[in-house]
Amino acid sequence: MTLQRIGVLTSGGDAPGMNAALRAAVRSSTALGAEIIGIRDGYRGLLQGDFEPFTNRSVAGIVHRGGTFLGSAREPEFLNPDAQQRGIRNLRDADIEGLLVIGGNGSQSGSLALHEQGFPTIGVASTIDNDLALVDTSIGVDTALNTATQMIDRLRDTATSHHRAFVIEVMGRNSGHLALMTGLASGAIGICTPEFPRSLDRIVEIVRNSIAIGKEYFLIVVAEGHEPRAADIARAVTEAGCIDSRVSVLGHVQRGGPPLVFDRLLATRSATMAAEALVAGKSGYLAGLVQGDFALVPASAAIKPTRKVTTELLQLAERLSQ
Ligand code: F6P
Repeated sequence: MTLQRIGVLTSGGDAPGMNAALRAAVRSSTALGAEIIGIRDGYRGLLQGDFEPFTNRSVAGIVHRGGTFLGSAREPEFLNPDAQQRGIRNLRDADIEGLLVIGGNGSQSGSLALHEQGFPTIGVASTIDNDLALVDTSIGVDTALNTATQMIDRLRDTATSHHRAFVIEVMGRNSGHLALMTGLASGAIGICTPEFPRSLDRIVEIVRNSIAIGKEYFLIVVAEGHEPRAADIARAVTEAGCIDSRVSVLGHVQRGGPPLVFDRLLATRSATMAAEALVAGKSGYLAGLVQGDFALVPASAAIKPTRKVTTELLQLAERLSQ
């Protein structure tokens, strides 16, 4: 069965590369002879029937732009099966036969729910949190890692000048991937992830050991999902009399900005694969990079809790910061 008319939406936190994915989705569908309808602001627009037919020109000049020109939203109401049914009705009323969902774990759970209720969907892995299982990485992760690492490099300038500790909070929701990778890339003496939490005592001990070997400044990277939080860690380090410390919460700057080449290519190829699969009548899959190649994986397995943080890499970071 070939679909003639499909929809596309971006949902959840915007990620650099979503626009490149939209461009590829629209132009690949058009090349296959399918009409494609943009749905504004994710599942919110789906519930409100905020639809707009796209042509290839609708996605001109966006491959290099951050954010998502289609808009995004967090729509908790969509967790409700009644709302999902309403969304399906809106799609069918507009003669839309299938839906492409560009987003992260929560968005792909919504996509899977529609599939399970009989409406064809294919997902495109896109989130800076890198919290989807089976895919190697998601659209936006590489750019976010680079942005956060550049910010940490700047903090290092002040840390070295003032002989201070900087405790830096990075995003990632329940995933410590951004913290681990930015910590490793910036030579942090401590990396705190929700997967392998560290106590205040242990962090103070790491700082004391570093002072004992002659270090005069420190970077500690903390995932936002870690307990204790970055502010508590900075306070504990200062109060232990180790070194003057400051907290820096990088926040949403990590999500913005133009996508790097890796994310543009990842987006272009994943979204093309997703559009081709949906138009060909497939459903219930997520398109992405899987062990170095592009593939479809079952959406039900991709949204299962995943751990991309390993003790090996955390230990490596610690060893190398000595
Ligand atoms: O999912 C992406 C993300 O940036 C998370 O890392 C963060 O926890 C969350 O979104 C923040 O959400 P919001 O932009 O809705 O505040």
